[in-house]
Amino acid sequence: MIKDNPERYGTISRVLHWLFAVLVLWQFMKFFDRIGEGEHWVGETLVPWHVSIGTLLLVLIVVRVVWALSQASHRPTHEPPIRYLARGGHILLYAALVIMPITGMLYMVGEGYGVEAFGITLIAEGEEIAWMHTVGGLHSITAWVLLGLTLAHIAMAFYHQFVRRDGTLRRMS
Ligand code: HEM
Ligand code: HEM
Repeated sequence: MIKDNPERYGTISRVLHWLFAVLVLWQFMKFFDRIGEGEHWVGETLVPWHVSIGTLLLVLIVVRVVWALSQASHRPTHEPPIRYLARGGHILLYAALVIMPITGMLYMVGEGYGVEAFGITLIAEGEEIAWMHTVGGLHSITAWVLLGLTLAHIAMAFYHQFVRRDGTLRRMS
């Protein structure tokens, strides 16, 4: 079952969801740069992939948004009022997932570093660009917002699974 239906998310939605879960978790490892200036195992093995994986996520979020819009009319949903809370939460997650890679790119280009992903130079080093640097400054704040949204999202998934026992987790697994 490739497409979604009202009972279950289809293969493409599920693969995209869990791929994002892993890659976003990986991106959150960048927070560990705050500890010991990144001079530890996480900082030396996982964090150096930050720009490459962020660039991959920029491409994947376009695919995911287009796919979600194409499936919107026949996806699983909830009874009101949870329907509106879940939809609002998911839209906020999508918004943060769009803003993150864009502001990351703006930060790098604004600083004049350019962007290199998986060993390929996508944008060459250059002059600093003040407005890009300013907008790129939203990257860190949005990262904290995304972390909060993600924790709330996971808490809601567990609430559905263990308190309401309504099969919400099963339709994404
Ligand atoms: C969905 C994609 C992304 C996520 C979830 C993400 C997440 C994060 C997180 C959690 C931090 C640490 C923030 C902090 O400690 O306050 C960070 C910092 C950073 N990210 Fe990303 N990131 C993403 C994409 C990108 C991309 C595409 C780039 C570059 C092309 C990038 C470049 C940076 C840079 C340069 C920093 C350090 C910023 C600073 O020191 O203020 N990120 N990111
Ligand atoms: C342990 C981690 C996670 C669990 C258990 C989980 C669970 C779920 C479940 C059960 C649904 C279906 C909700 C419903 O139909 O109302 C869902 C949907 C969704 N999840 Fe997660 N999730 C996890 C991590 C993440 C992460 C890290 C993100 C992104 C930052 C994310 C973004 C979304 C989005 C946007 C949806 C809406 C459906 C879609 O468009 O794919 N999830 N999640």
